[in-house]
Amino acid sequence: MSFLEIRDVNKQYGLTPVLNGLDLTVKEHQVVTLIGPSGCGKSTLLRCINGLEPISGGEIRISGDRVTGPGVDMNALRRQVGIVFQSYNLFPHMTVLDNVMLAPLRVLGLPKDQVEVEAVALLRRIGLEAKAKGYPDSLSGGQQQRVAIVRALAMKPRLLLLDEITSALDPELVSEVLNIVRDLAAEGMTMLLATHEMGFAREVSSKVCFLQGGQIFEEGPPEQIFTAPREERTQAFLKRIIEAGRL
Ligand SMILES: Nc1ncnc2c1ncn2[C@@H]1O[C@H](COP(=O)(O)OP(=O)(O)OP(=O)(O)O)[C@@H](O)[C@H]1O
Ligand SMILES: [Mg+2]
Repeated sequence: MSFLEIRDVNKQYGLTPVLNGLDLTVKEHQVVTLIGPSGCGKSTLLRCINGLEPISGGEIRISGDRVTGPGVDMNALRRQVGIVFQSYNLFPHMTVLDNVMLAPLRVLGLPKDQVEVEAVALLRRIGLEAKAKGYPDSLSGGQQQRVAIVRALAMKPRLLLLDEITSALDPELVSEVLNIVRDLAAEGMTMLLATHEMGFAREVSSKVCFLQGGQIFEEGPPEQIFTAPREERTQAFLKRIIEAGRL
């Protein structure tokens, strides 16, 4: 059974259509990657899935439950679906530890002792336990992004959405962030990610989806999409990527 089901989703900003009858399914434990030119709607799709943006038509279901349209419990949705952005968005006035503890305390109302033990364990896991009492601006970009990922994990999401989480990082910091994603994939975390890191997409994805014209224009296993795309537009996109030295 599909865990995430996106059916005939439309999204427009004003008169501009961005998503046009988009269909996509993600099974539990899959890692699905969205690729496509800038402005094709990757971020918009991710933001629609966890309710940051309303859709204009169609529906999105998680475990069979509708998460779009009237009467949806947004808090319940965001408890299940974590999202990490390109620009980490840690709270600058809170310590690293408090950043990780905030949502489980406020949203889940869990006891502080338990939340702290789990938050410290998450920071240990990414090698940043020693930074727990520091503030985000004392961390490198890569370290901040790793904290942003464990902050999302602290909510024990069933689905993790990752939007270009390495784009703001210097090249030497990219691998430490991708390693976490690799580990999560190996543990069976269901993930939907938008990325320009084609090598990474090829390695980690169960399925790669090429977005174009507001739809999933072509999808398939990474080997097929990256070595033998069927559609001319996918081929043209990948050709540009290769010419830019990014594959
Ligand atoms: N809040 C908004 N208001 C109006 N238009 C928007 C808004 N957000 C995005 N758009 C438009 O929607 C389209 C899709 O944007 P989106 O950010 O989803 O693209 P993307 O595939 O994530 O691009 P990139 O690879 O550059 O991150 C673009 O044309 C963009 O200008
Ligand atoms: Mg984007």
